[in-house]
Amino acid sequence: MDTLADFPRQKLPALLQAMPKAELHVHIEGTLEPELIFALARRNGVTLRYADVQALRAAYAFTDLQSFLDIYYAGASVLLQEQDFFDMAMAYFRRAAVDRIVHAELFFDPQTHTARGVPMQTIMGGLVRACTAARSELGISSALILCFLRHLSEADAFDALEQALPYRQHFIGVGLDSSERGHPPDKFARVFAQCREHGLHIVAHAGEEGPAQYIRDALDLLGAQRIDHGVRCVEDPELVRRLARERIPLTVCPLSNVKLKVFDTLAEHNLPALLDAGLCVTLNSDDPAYFGGYLNQNFLETFAALPQLTADHAAQLARNSFDASFVAEATKGRWRDELARVIAQVAKEP
Ligand code: HPA
Ligand code: ZN
Repeated sequence: MDTLADFPRQKLPALLQAMPKAELHVHIEGTLEPELIFALARRNGVTLRYADVQALRAAYAFTDLQSFLDIYYAGASVLLQEQDFFDMAMAYFRRAAVDRIVHAELFFDPQTHTARGVPMQTIMGGLVRACTAARSELGISSALILCFLRHLSEADAFDALEQALPYRQHFIGVGLDSSERGHPPDKFARVFAQCREHGLHIVAHAGEEGPAQYIRDALDLLGAQRIDHGVRCVEDPELVRRLARERIPLTVCPLSNVKLKVFDTLAEHNLPALLDAGLCVTLNSDDPAYFGGYLNQNFLETFAALPQLTADHAAQLARNSFDASFVAEATKGRWRDELARVIAQVAKEP
């Protein structure tokens, strides 16, 4: 496929920014900017460990996933009222509109909040209201995916599912996040079996810090339809062939991977190898408030660091984001048509 063979490289940033795209791997708690964390702390009378926005930002020097999660959970402690969840999600949607995101599937971590005494109704109420407003005010389509925290127990996950089921119509799927190493997918096989019975879509973080075997287990033991991150699949060539054959999407997050030291630099990221292997890769921001950029920043910096990535790859990544989303085929078709229109328009601009 070389339809954009003559596309001039200097117009690549314009294409990356203008392309309509879906975001499939963003933790809504990871979009809490330091300024909003302090505003909500003031509003709710919460005392933070950090003196001010600058001191908090200065703490964003991560050595691995766990060092990030410790600060990420501390940041989420300011979320108490329904309005807080609404304000957080609306801030993300406004930012998403700038990046030409037409559809977002948002992860949320209810256990982070219910453990602090925040009712499920407060969390769901604020997030659902924001999703509705994103549609009417910004034209952005969205859906919610409930993530279980894998550092907690199976019983805790069952408890979270039970609390969430009254809101079943408001979330489309479940995922698995938090500390990967030492928390393999099999710990949650029974919870995910129950989720499948409820007709929920299944995704799971795997192969970010954990081994390729966790990706296999997420597929075979949880029934995952998409793998979040999954970059360590390359350590298992047979698994890579399977992911390509079964067209299992990988939601890759380049800036996150560098900030959490999965790769030392963007230039060393294995995105080109994943694309060359024929995998359905999408680009995503993960926790943009913590990792130095929203979705277009991920596109811009990754393409700048990896000169082998072309306009064809850009178009492929945008198409993949629609293919991998959990929306009706007719909707995917409309977005693909809009993508083709935008590509043609950018191509003919001077
Ligand atoms: N990995 C695992 N858990 C997470 C992440 C991540 O990148 N972001 C928020 N929770
Ligand atoms: Zn993630």
